[in-house]
Amino acid sequence: MSNTITINIDGKEIQTQEGTFVLNAARANDIFIPAICYLTRCSPTLACRICIVDIDGKQAYACNAKSKDGMSISTSTENIDKERRAIMEVYDVNHPLQCGVCDQSGECELQNYTLEMGVDSQSYTVKDVDRSAHNWGHLHYDPGLCIVCERCVTSCKDMIGDNALTTIARGADALEATYKEEMPKDAYAMWNKLNKSVIGLTNGTDILDCTSCGECASVCPVGALVDTEFMYKSNAWELSQVPATCGHCSAGCQITYDIKHTSIDNPEDKIYRVMNEWNYVSLCGAGRYGFDYQNANVEKDEGAFEKALEAFKKADTIKFTSTITNEEAYILEKLKDKYGYKLVNNEAKSFQTFLANYATVSGTSLYGSDLKEMAKSGFIISLGTALKSDNPNARYAFNNSVTVNKGAGIYFHPVNDPVVDGMNKNVLSIAHKPLQEEAILYLILDLFGDKDALPSDIVSYLASFHSTKTITVTETVKEKVIEIVKEMKLNEETGEEEEIEVEKSKMVPKKVSKEVEVDDNALLSMIGAADDFTEVLEKFLKKKETFSLVIGADLYNHPNAKNCARLVGLVEKYSKFTLVMIPSLTNTLGVALINELSDDEGEYTIGYNVQGDFTLSALGAGSACDLDMPAINQQEGTLTSINKRVNPTNVAISYGGKNVGVFSLD
Ligand code: SF4
Ligand code: SF4
Ligand code: SF4
Ligand code: FES
Repeated sequence: MSNTITINIDGKEIQTQEGTFVLNAARANDIFIPAICYLTRCSPTLACRICIVDIDGKQAYACNAKSKDGMSISTSTENIDKERRAIMEVYDVNHPLQCGVCDQSGECELQNYTLEMGVDSQSYTVKDVDRSAHNWGHLHYDPGLCIVCERCVTSCKDMIGDNALTTIARGADALEATYKEEMPKDAYAMWNKLNKSVIGLTNGTDILDCTSCGECASVCPVGALVDTEFMYKSNAWELSQVPATCGHCSAGCQITYDIKHTSIDNPEDKIYRVMNEWNYVSLCGAGRYGFDYQNANVEKDEGAFEKALEAFKKADTIKFTSTITNEEAYILEKLKDKYGYKLVNNEAKSFQTFLANYATVSGTSLYGSDLKEMAKSGFIISLGTALKSDNPNARYAFNNSVTVNKGAGIYFHPVNDPVVDGMNKNVLSIAHKPLQEEAILYLILDLFGDKDALPSDIVSYLASFHSTKTITVTETVKEKVIEIVKEMKLNEETGEEEEIEVEKSKMVPKKVSKEVEVDDNALLSMIGAADDFTEVLEKFLKKKETFSLVIGADLYNHPNAKNCARLVGLVEKYSKFTLVMIPSLTNTLGVALINELSDDEGEYTIGYNVQGDFTLSALGAGSACDLDMPAINQQEGTLTSINKRVNPTNVAISYGGKNVGVFSLD
């Protein structure tokens, strides 16, 4: 547990937690310290040095100086101001004056800080080199605009886990030697490093191979790294922001749809891009680029509506997916209460049943942890989920833990994922046979459960997997050997040197084999763990105090899901693991909490975003649809996230048709 301490910034006493970076402590108290390269949830890189402050008479960097009780910090001194101004001048060296056409103009940190530091002249020069732009598919990189703050590299490594970007050699001339003496020291050091690099791809080619989340472009403070699709489409200040919740998975990422009219001829709003507050939330490719899914050009179709009313009269079942808002789920529940429909949603039903079975053991209706806590844990196990796609933010939390938090993790899944494997050397992937998740839960209980507290039937069952086996081990021992060596010795009688033989002992290494009895845990062989599993685990667990288990839909749909739920409850209750469950779809948790669901369909089904005898659909042209419905980006409402938060979402694109609410009217 960290302690609350008091530090003083510019004469203001503030309370913070011991070890909090001074920059974060300042920000939490509305004190401004310039900072460019630092990203809140990532490791400091010290690329920009503009956050330089004075701490107890010594200069330090606010983004990596940890708060200690009684510290006194000045955010501005004569020397610091000189450094900052010089840093901004350096950033402006050879930066093309093309703000008029740059995508970042209007939200550019280079523009903002250049003004903030009052840079109105340039003291430094260096010959520029060819810095041609690169087309990296969905990204466009212009090294001519790049200030090498490394935010893109850091975000991809520390948050996303792809490690797709790196710094590469710029091939520039060295800086003039006199600058070293004449310039403010930090500005020179920053420039000297910047002048040697640009950004390149880790795979050494010019073809970007990554999970395409667009976070690197999002965090870029200038117009160097931009989304190809958005490039030259709009000035930032022309766009209006619609705050919303991403509708693609249960992470519930907070986004803005940036909208403006479609064209001079078409005043209808269009989504131009999706943005995020990247210090707090990181998006995936679906959230960032998959925004264009509105059910477009729909008008009220009274004929189809009449048919829908007839269908509702005939129907005994409403079948639906969990890509609906809580409000829609509530309307369906009311329709069920009033007209007796069966509500069928198989994936939400599996999750709901799993939660209910888990609750019988854990005593709590919902899992206790969330992605924020998971990202800070020292050791994570992921089980029953394809982390990369089921919930990208769960993957980011896993990666954040093993990189920034220096944790370790085990990824259990029938299929290895190169992205997970590439995160860090402290990640072990075990590609087990399908349906071995139950055995893995027993293994987790066996390795980490408190055997004194676990139910005795579980303890005996776990013991039944253990036996002793005899193995032959080879070890090296030191053995004493006697050697006869020849030496010359003076013969005192003859006075001459003569050769004699003497015995000398020495220790030599020798390999010996011996048979030893060891514990044989059959669970390890059942799940296909390698022979060195125990050794690797021991290494992973060194100095680890916080543990996190994240589970997914493979458990909810397991043939023994009931027992899996019980085991998960036991792990949470009787071990140090905290628990996160990944709801299978966008609002599976909301639906599971709102709707009373049935297992089987009746005779006549209304399908909502799934095919029924009569189908309501937001999927637009090309889908089986008898009556159009609005997509998530056309609705005001709420979605319940993996973090158990009810997040609001808003209308980005207007919708002209009916919505499900009309059926709740008498
Ligand atoms: S591309 Fe952008 S984020 Fe990356 S180093 Fe350059 S300026 Fe920084
Ligand atoms: S798009 Fe995402 S995964 Fe690809 S390089 Fe950028 S941050 Fe990394
Ligand atoms: S992680 Fe999920 S909620 Fe977040 S942007 Fe991706 S799809 Fe959307
Ligand atoms: S923000 Fe601290 S060195 Fe860049």
